[in-house]
Amino acid sequence: MTDQGPDACETDQLADVPVDDRPRHIAIIMDGNGRWAQNKGLPRIEGHRHGVNTVRMISETATELKIAAITLYCLSSENWKRPQAELDFLMHLLEQYLIEERRTIMDQGLRLKIIGRRDRLPEDVLTEMDRTLQMSANNAGTELVLAIDYGGRDEITKVTRDIASEVAAGTLELDAVDENTINSRLYTADLPEVDLLIRSGGDMRVSNFLLWQISYSEIWITEKSWPEFTRQDFLNAIREFHSRQRRFGGLNVNE
Ligand code: IPE
Ligand code: IPE
Ligand code: MG
Repeated sequence: MTDQGPDACETDQLADVPVDDRPRHIAIIMDGNGRWAQNKGLPRIEGHRHGVNTVRMISETATELKIAAITLYCLSSENWKRPQAELDFLMHLLEQYLIEERRTIMDQGLRLKIIGRRDRLPEDVLTEMDRTLQMSANNAGTELVLAIDYGGRDEITKVTRDIASEVAAGTLELDAVDENTINSRLYTADLPEVDLLIRSGGDMRVSNFLLWQISYSEIWITEKSWPEFTRQDFLNAIREFHSRQRRFGGLNVNE
């Protein structure tokens, strides 16, 4: 890579944070696209279009920082309430992303994963999704997880049904149902715990994202919208994560 500009120096700012002390899995609620566009007098969809540049920057930076997994909230199960024209554009953008970013995904060794429902997505999007999934399946780099038509409640409902049907069929003992039974049936079963949750756009809420998975995630929220979210913001979030004391309900190590 010919990255010798200021960005290379910015990554060096984390040189003192060993890879093991960085979050292994970062989940991001990419919010504020529409407001960013509207503030500039542009249609909301321009915000989504610009947001793709931030996605590219995040996947590049995550690769450089050796972050194991990044989960990006692209479409919630509630976003179908939006006007059809905006939804059509989002589907078009997604399809375009899956085609145009294939080369970058392969160059960076990213492994694509999609979480959420498939049954409400257009056929064209599913086809490109499956192509990129298949092509990147053996890559060993950062796992790039796109949450599309994803809802935490929807996911937990699905897992509950799966468990109930296994118990009914006699393949699972009711007494054997524990947290691991649930973990292993979530879309995120093979991913590390979400260490850090980032939200752009300033809203102090979770909006149905990874409800089970973020129990002990550190939360970092910025007022900046997604299109204006920079590499420096991402590094700042990781640095702040490093300075937080995580207790997981216990006490600090020396107390
Ligand atoms: C997030 O940006 C992207 C999606 C939900 C698809 P928004 O479209 O929610 O932008 P704001 O929050 O209205 O500004
Ligand atoms: C969350 O943003 C969903 C995504 C970023 C895909 P929303 O814009 O849908 O969240 P609310 O409606 O403000 O809670
Ligand atoms: Mg929003």
